Amino acid sequence: MSETPVIEAKDLKVYFPVRKGIFGKTLYVKAVDGVSFKIPRGGILTLVGESGCGKTTVGKTITGLIKPTSGQILFHGKDIRKLTKEEYLRYRRGVQIVHQDPYSALNPTKTIFHILSSPLKRWKLAKTRKELLDKVTYLLELVGLKPASDFLYKYPHQLSGGQRQRVVVARAISVNPELIVADEPITMIDVSLRIGILDLLLDLRQRFGTAYLFITHDFGAARYFAAKGGGLIAVMYLGKIVEIGPAEDIIQNPQHPYTKVLLSAVPVPDPEISRKKKPIKLRSLDIPSPLNPPSGCKFHTRCPFIIEDKCPYQEPELVEVRPNHYVACHLLAKK
Ligand SMILES: Nc1ncnc2c1ncn2[C@@H]1O[C@H](COP(=O)(O)OP(=O)(O)OP(=O)(O)O)[C@@H](O)[C@H]1O
Ligand SMILES: [Mg+2]
Repeated sequence: MSETPVIEAKDLKVYFPVRKGIFGKTLYVKAVDGVSFKIPRGGILTLVGESGCGKTTVGKTITGLIKPTSGQILFHGKDIRKLTKEEYLRYRRGVQIVHQDPYSALNPTKTIFHILSSPLKRWKLAKTRKELLDKVTYLLELVGLKPASDFLYKYPHQLSGGQRQRVVVARAISVNPELIVADEPITMIDVSLRIGILDLLLDLRQRFGTAYLFITHDFGAARYFAAKGGGLIAVMYLGKIVEIGPAEDIIQNPQHPYTKVLLSAVPVPDPEISRKKKPIKLRSLDIPSPLNPPSGCKFHTRCPFIIEDKCPYQEPELVEVRPNHYVACHLLAKK
């Protein structure tokens, strides 16, 4: 099956200029450094990695909020820089983002009704006030804010973090998007409410066939999302994907040392398994500066399995090691 993906990233690079040093020389943060992936219709790509590895930058670039330094973003197979006006509008409407912080995502001076009406009006999805009211009511109930009448005329500060994030999700879904970039949608929410938001996203996918780029630094959340939704998991380290493959296979058979480290840190509910699990120790806990990343394999400064005469010098390529499962690591090439 070779259906054209909703979104494809091809060798995406995003370098941010930052002035540094006594001579005012411009240095670049290579926030994203050659990332490629495809998200099919209704598919899920879960992007996981530590803080600063470039996840948000990937999400914003896909959404069109940041221009890539190089590489391509294809929307239904067409470079977003070459879309006709009509196609561009379809792209802007079709790819929505849910940001990490539900506290700053909503205008504090507007009611929930106003906040949810705006995109409906903008995209001409409801015209009369009655239509708007019906649609906003429907959206609120869809995201579990029931009865909607309790929320319509409230202001964001009157809602909890979890409720606000539901409003943000309702706003994203209101325009019938094809892809939602969910950037750490649960990080700022009370722990007890997190599963609810993940289940809501998965439920919306079930109903509407929405595809997701799900971004998280938490492999526990990645595992939950992937276990219920499937799709692919991509593990990022300092601007690069170091491992990508079917979610289930990444979790059951992680191949890259970094993926193994991240997974070994995730608590398992079963104490029997938990006892047997040996945590993998990193050589260094510090994440290297993206302004001055290590040579060769960027993970070599922390990798417990380093090949001293190779890893610091040669950058490993992504290689298919299992069906549809790619890993960039010299250890695997050695086998
Ligand atoms: N506008 C910018 N100007 C300069 N540097 C930036 C800019 N945006 C991001 N960066 C840098 O790019 C790198 C990647 O940032 P990004 O926010 O994409 O990471 P992230 O994986 O989303 O991290 P987090 O888990 O903290 O959200 C970081 O080193 C960050 O400091
Ligand atoms: Mg981020």
